[in-house]
Amino acid sequence: MSHYIGILTAGGDTPGLNAAIRAIGKAALAHDMQVIGFRDGFRGLMSNRTVRLDRNALSGILAVGGTILGTSRDKPHKMPVGNKTMDMTDVLYENYRNHHLDALVCLGGGGTQKNAYRLAERGFNIVTLPKTIDNDVARTDVTFGFDTAMTIATDAIDRLHTTAHSHHRIIVVEVMGHNAGWLTLGAGVAGGADVVLIPEIPYDVAKVAGAIRARSRAGKAFSIVAVAEGAIAAEHAPSLIEASEQAEAAETKAERKQGRKRLAELEVAHVGNTLRLSQQLEELTALESRVTILGHLQRGGTPSAADRLLATRLGTACTELIRRQEYGIMVAARGEGHEAVPLEAVVGRRKLVPLDHPWIVTARAVGTSFGD
Ligand code: F6P
Repeated sequence: MSHYIGILTAGGDTPGLNAAIRAIGKAALAHDMQVIGFRDGFRGLMSNRTVRLDRNALSGILAVGGTILGTSRDKPHKMPVGNKTMDMTDVLYENYRNHHLDALVCLGGGGTQKNAYRLAERGFNIVTLPKTIDNDVARTDVTFGFDTAMTIATDAIDRLHTTAHSHHRIIVVEVMGHNAGWLTLGAGVAGGADVVLIPEIPYDVAKVAGAIRARSRAGKAFSIVAVAEGAIAAEHAPSLIEASEQAEAAETKAERKQGRKRLAELEVAHVGNTLRLSQQLEELTALESRVTILGHLQRGGTPSAADRLLATRLGTACTELIRRQEYGIMVAARGEGHEAVPLEAVVGRRKLVPLDHPWIVTARAVGTSFGD
């Protein structure tokens, strides 16, 4: 039977993290387990900055956004120390042992799953939960945080409709998501965006403009374009795909570094240039266009009821799995229940939007353009 559980939250913050911490903690306390939190992700485990998660600390946090533990994107094996990055895995392990932890729970997105898996390989007893507003973690139906962010982005699109309509303008609204289009697609369909541009479907700006002009001809002199941060124009897709394949195929450290540098340069030049897209649409349609970047608004504030429920379900399931000493797993959402998925089946994969996904099919059926 496990007695000591450590919890950390890593990567971008997400609504629902506190609900998950509360659920893991309360379920653990009910079985006389002790729970401690580490501050600011893996960095807190390295520097041994802890919070005792007793009844008091776990109370009143269900509806609170962000994470009471703080978070960071620091990785155990590449921890910034002074002006260098160092592999601090052994230090983390020592602290894990000194706290007599039976299990370490890591709440995070794709990057955190990978880092947690490395720790599991090093000998930590790891359980993870999938959280991210991007909804792109593999092998789970959904991640917590996604529903809240989709609700916020949908509300923004609703509000942008009335001002776009009044001024007969295009409004290009940028939604978070560098790799996966779930958030843009979900909010775009729910908010009735006229054009939805996602990383999975490279777009042709002439086709986007064509869809907007067709609306004007039909008497609708305004349009809402929902664009993901990582949406790319079709003309740039081949060079990006080639660069990403080269970066992945690199064999030496130097080749990998060079490959990643080239990919990053191309991404800066071609991806997420929402302002440029807006200017192009003004030129091609002769309509005025404005840009709204939703940014971190999508990650802030109180979690939706659906995210609180999901985080609470997965959190209590997590504690139950720890009681059964099942480690090296992610607690995935599966239908109304959960599934313990081995971490090796999760890492190195990203759940992108399938091109025949029902949300895409339904959007096309109501006349939404994907610019393809
Ligand atoms: O991974 C979640 C996410 O919100 C992405 O959608 C977004 O691209 C990124 O984090 C932003 O990261 P940061 O808050 O570190 O700027």
